[in-house]
Amino acid sequence: MTALSIEALQFSFADADKVVNDFHLQAESGEIICLLGASGCGKTTVLNLIAGLLKPSGGKIELSTRKSAAETGIDVGYIFQNDALFPWRTVEGNLLLASDLNPILSKAQALDKMGQYLDVFHLSKSVLKKFPSQLSGGMRQRVSIIQTLMFEPELILLDEPFSALDYYTKLSLEEEFCQLVRSQGKTAILVTHDIEEAVAMADRAYIMNGGKLEREFVIRAPHQEESRSTATNEARGSSVFAEHYRLIWKELKQVVGSKD
Ligand SMILES: Nc1ncnc2c1ncn2[C@@H]1O[C@H](COP(=O)(O)OP(=O)(O)OP(=O)(O)O)[C@@H](O)[C@H]1O
Ligand SMILES: [Mg+2]
Repeated sequence: MTALSIEALQFSFADADKVVNDFHLQAESGEIICLLGASGCGKTTVLNLIAGLLKPSGGKIELSTRKSAAETGIDVGYIFQNDALFPWRTVEGNLLLASDLNPILSKAQALDKMGQYLDVFHLSKSVLKKFPSQLSGGMRQRVSIIQTLMFEPELILLDEPFSALDYYTKLSLEEEFCQLVRSQGKTAILVTHDIEEAVAMADRAYIMNGGKLEREFVIRAPHQEESRSTATNEARGSSVFAEHYRLIWKELKQVVGSKD
């Protein structure tokens, strides 16, 4: 099922040049799409447009959601590089925000869901009474991801979510996140500067340049069940992985460093 469809999207800040110009993208349920590109090429702007934080000056963004009006949750979740947790709430308080804000989600349901996500992201229940400032960066980012997932978004936008983490935490979070998106049939759009992360996680990766998606790299085709189910980190050592990395870097190095 097509979860997100973007056609001929246009956007500019005030009377500056177009940051987004004729941008097209389709994403299916269960897919992870990565956006790469030079700093300032408009990746965050595209996520902000999809999230509805900015208004397009042209084109169309359509989200198809499987939810019926009676179901709980929101359509789009947004995860940033640095967590957006409330410092005055405990971890539990932060995670139960979804049920505080949504009367249809009972506290019991929320607690149940919270327990499941803590397991998926390898966090022990002992973190629940702590405040965000008492956690490591990796733990905070795990909590932040769970906080977003508690709202059951169909589409998850991520802006360099793992870039501030140490290498090993990053590897395990990437893997945990991929498994979750694929097993729950959600859709994720991930902005990253890290080619390895893109190859490890994405079904398709794109290089954005000149306001649009310039190059497509199909990393896991929909019918390649085997490559889609291989654990992200197991794939890293393979020759196929190295070849994808080489092809992406070859194209990317022509756009990074040169503004046009
Ligand atoms: N609020 C704003 N007002 C005016 N111009 C802006 C604003 N936010 C971003 N821009 C400009 O829009 C362009 C795209 O910015 P954007 O943040 O989308 O880039 P990016 O690809 O996410 O970069 P990075 O990889 O460094 O995060 C840049 O030229 C930037 O200076
Ligand atoms: Mg950005």
